[in-house]
Amino acid sequence: MKLIKLLVVLISLNVSAQQGGMWIPSLLKGMNESEMQSLGSKLSAEDIYSVNKSSLKDAIVHFNGGCTAEIISPKGLLLTNHHCGFGQIQSHSSVENDYLKEGFWAMSHEQELPNENLEVTFIVKIEDVTKAVLSGVTENMSPSEAQSLIQTNTNEVQKKYTKETWQNTKVRPFFKGNQYFLFVTETYEDVRLVGAPPSSIGKFGSDTDNWMFPRHTGDFSIFRIYADKNNRPAKYSKDNVPFTPKHFLPVSLDGIQEGDFTMVFGFPGRTNEYLPAVAVEQITQKVNPSNINIRAKALKVIDAAMKNDDKTRIQYASKQASIANYWKKWIGENQGIEKSNAIAKKRDFEAKFTKAISKKKYAKYQHILSDFEKLYADFEPYAIKRSNFIEVFYRNNELMNMMFRLYQLEQSAAKGEEAFSKTRQFVTSQLSRVHKDYNANVDRGVFEAIMPLYDATSTNSTLYVTTAFTNLSSALKTLEGTPEEVIAKINNDAAYSFAKPYIKEFYTDLEPNYQRLNGEIAKVQKKYMKALMEVLPSDKYYPDANSTLRVTYGQVKGYSPKDAVYYKPVSYIDGIIEKYIPGDYEFDVPAKLLELYKTKDYGQYADANGKVPVCFLGTNHTTGGNSGSPAIDAEGNLIGLNFDRVWEGTMSDMNYDPAICRNIMVDARYILFIVDKFAGASHLIDEMKLVHPKK
Ligand code: ARG
Ligand code: GLU
Repeated sequence: MKLIKLLVVLISLNVSAQQGGMWIPSLLKGMNESEMQSLGSKLSAEDIYSVNKSSLKDAIVHFNGGCTAEIISPKGLLLTNHHCGFGQIQSHSSVENDYLKEGFWAMSHEQELPNENLEVTFIVKIEDVTKAVLSGVTENMSPSEAQSLIQTNTNEVQKKYTKETWQNTKVRPFFKGNQYFLFVTETYEDVRLVGAPPSSIGKFGSDTDNWMFPRHTGDFSIFRIYADKNNRPAKYSKDNVPFTPKHFLPVSLDGIQEGDFTMVFGFPGRTNEYLPAVAVEQITQKVNPSNINIRAKALKVIDAAMKNDDKTRIQYASKQASIANYWKKWIGENQGIEKSNAIAKKRDFEAKFTKAISKKKYAKYQHILSDFEKLYADFEPYAIKRSNFIEVFYRNNELMNMMFRLYQLEQSAAKGEEAFSKTRQFVTSQLSRVHKDYNANVDRGVFEAIMPLYDATSTNSTLYVTTAFTNLSSALKTLEGTPEEVIAKINNDAAYSFAKPYIKEFYTDLEPNYQRLNGEIAKVQKKYMKALMEVLPSDKYYPDANSTLRVTYGQVKGYSPKDAVYYKPVSYIDGIIEKYIPGDYEFDVPAKLLELYKTKDYGQYADANGKVPVCFLGTNHTTGGNSGSPAIDAEGNLIGLNFDRVWEGTMSDMNYDPAICRNIMVDARYILFIVDKFAGASHLIDEMKLVHPKK
């Protein structure tokens, strides 16, 4: 009797421990399929991914390489996050036509707005090409030898692969380079903006609420894919027609309840679940804190300037959002790692691993952990400084970013006239891009705030006054002339002569040492991954995220972040009203939404209690890149749109803990409600397929 009880406890423990993982959609048969079904799914592996018939994967696209989006109508209507379409919405905005602030809704196909440099990519097929890619690669090779053979093999594999003329292939490493998959893709380049709510809905709560629950953000925007007359990819043309998908997601009006099955299907960017303790320690105790500090200082300047002036607010909207996003994420990640004792737990796990490899037949694995310790110690100064360099000279300060480009220009001269003029063209376009949204005063403030964090002894009092690069026309003028003339001119520039020694140090010391040690570490990490799977076998190993298509699944579930606090999994419009601060830059609410709330004009979008749900939580294991991914119900219908994680759980990139890691989704009914009742874009609702799977 006792034994049975114990078994039951063990099994149920195992079920909850099993949550987490980002799985390769073509390999779901077996463990994943049955686990999903035990969580309530009615879908087969074949419903999710099939090469022979249309399947869910045919409705999912990689949105401009960074986010995910899904097709929700037979006419190529595409749903993604507001923060994913943010750059496009911003680029169509001006002080007169402020779509960031007011929202935008195309009431006909003619009004849909084309976007330069926006593309979406479908995955047609996934194939294991490990054997061919690793052919001839041996353990004795140096990291760079192995890498170059892998590259040659990869090129060969791609060259030999038969595909249609409009398709592409790419090959990506999995399990730290122990496995390789080839992806056949189709990329559409005519993607138009159809609708976006005002930021007071799409970005409601802004940075205060970012990475947090309870959440009330309507983080969605709508696009449409256009194709040529044969439904194939084509550059923008007014003759293009709405794309006809192989599959689109029906939208459920029945909503969710705690415990319901959910699946998130998309393109997670990067995770590191199999790092040794020493690496997690370095990231959270050394790299993150210094970067957090740099961004905090930069943000203080940018935030103040944006609040002061509307033009600056629009100019800096995208830049500010991306700086603020990871600033806050790193803080949450550090707290989560600390609170969950992740480093000590990793050390315990490593002790278990050490014990398991003590047998003679595992001698080849016995150096792994000590190699890690040594390599990470060597790596540390470079890892910190390189990362800080990137923050100061690349991400947060635009004048230094321009200097970084100029350094590349100067270097290119050594490769001849042609290389120089090509680089000049590229630098020119980069400078023009920066200056489109540039404010020298703000940038100077940022520079003065963060440069001392990189080099406390630096002196730079007049550089912003005399440099030619705070102004586009004088900047471009400096780039005119022969290579010799240009190089002489830029070396006379105050900003360039200030920045050059730092950038030179980056290229001649930081970067080469970082890459060398990183290569050594990757080699050990590959072996560690292999050892784990061999020595502690389990079917629960999943490959780290690498911007390829993945499935993650779980259930709608609340969580308890600290003593006596429990977050229910669903938020409602009522919570928007609770947070409402008239005129506030983060918590203002549009008058129309207040009115709809007052009159309870919710149409078919309220739940059984007459309330409209806004966001909900799940145990799906997601990361950056999963933004815009569909949340899918047990039958394959859209129930929500993934856009964030809870703060306490952002450490899931290194340490997924089912107790506190939750993803945050906008409820599909809130999206429909905003499109229909708020924006009056009922023509969009009409082209979707609304379903009642629970009735
Ligand atoms: N945290 C979400 C993600 O990682 C949303 C980001 C939106 N940006 C922001 N600064 N609020 O992308
Ligand atoms: N907002 C993130 C993104 O842009 C998703 C949230 C996360 O990192 O989980 O992809």
